[in-house]
Amino acid sequence: MTDEINISFRTADGEVFRVSAARGTTVMEAAIMNDVPGIEAECGGACACATCHVYAPEGVGPAEDEYEQDMLDFAADERRANSRLSCQIELEPALEGAVFQLPRMQI
Ligand code: FES
Repeated sequence: MTDEINISFRTADGEVFRVSAARGTTVMEAAIMNDVPGIEAECGGACACATCHVYAPEGVGPAEDEYEQDMLDFAADERRANSRLSCQIELEPALEGAVFQLPRMQI
């Protein structure tokens, strides 16, 4: 079993960025390491800024952590049912091939 997981990010304009990162890396870290535009991650992954907002694909559950939900409230108009903070999602084999949609803008 490989430790590298392949995922993609699709911008609001439809541009797709394919990245590969080690299992256990967060989706936010995978984006930052690969210079994916649209993920700012101002707090560095501390679940304290909401500038790593993504729309998660099917199979990724909703935010269950109350603090993540509170932070997602800052995404306001951009928030949807599948909104997640990408710093709170770790890469695992089940995410192989997953596509994360980026909001038009971060807060
Ligand atoms: S990087 Fe700040 S909340 Fe995710």
